[in-house]
Amino acid sequence: MTVAAGCLRPMVEADIGPALAIDELVYPSAWSPSFLRQQLSLAGSRVNLVAERDGQLVGHGALMVVADEGHVTSVAVHPHQQRRGIGAQILAALCRASVERGLKSMTLEVRCSNEAAIALYQRFGFAPAGVRVGYYADTGEDALIMWVHDIDQPEFLERVVVAEKRKERHG
Ligand SMILES: CC(C)(COP(=O)(O)OP(=O)(O)OC[C@H]1O[C@@H](n2cnc3c(N)ncnc32)[C@H](O)[C@@H]1OP(=O)(O)O)[C@@H](O)C(=O)NCCC(=O)NCCS
Repeated sequence: MTVAAGCLRPMVEADIGPALAIDELVYPSAWSPSFLRQQLSLAGSRVNLVAERDGQLVGHGALMVVADEGHVTSVAVHPHQQRRGIGAQILAALCRASVERGLKSMTLEVRCSNEAAIALYQRFGFAPAGVRVGYYADTGEDALIMWVHDIDQPEFLERVVVAEKRKERHG
């Protein structure tokens, strides 16, 4: 898996510190090291990826499998590396992992004010499906619930390819 001059690979325990350092920069509150360690131990139902560029961890993404649904639980890119296609490549990899596992749908929650992430998810076919009022305990903000269905149909992977390729033009 390539990320313009970098790569995507499964997260390992040594990545927890650098991944949480990014979270501290981009999220109002970050996961704890023990929570992330637990996620890594649940490999059967989790996908945890990191993006590297020039040997540095620049982003990560996570997926939780629940029945035939893939729940995107995180996509985070270092502020200095944003808008270079890395988030799209992480999300594309999580989409492909969901298809490879035979899942039927993907879903996520995103802060209603997070226009960047909502735009990213929409490119991949995620559509708003509801709001969880006061979902985020740290700020009390509402969450937008987004879903993409029928990911086992060929059109979904075709869309993923297009969404990812547009990013490559931005280098
Ligand atoms: C959301 C996030 C992961 C996007 O990562 P990224 O590497 O910057 O995204 P990409 O460069 O792949 O851009 C993907 C598309 O998302 C949209 N997008 C990204 N940043 C945007 C911004 N600041 N404003 C509007 N749209 C934006 C655009 O459609 C963009 O495509 P374009 O560059 O062709 O216009 C990144 O902004 C981030 O880490 N944010 C903080 C963490 C977060 O909120 N994660 C989501 C939690 S649900």
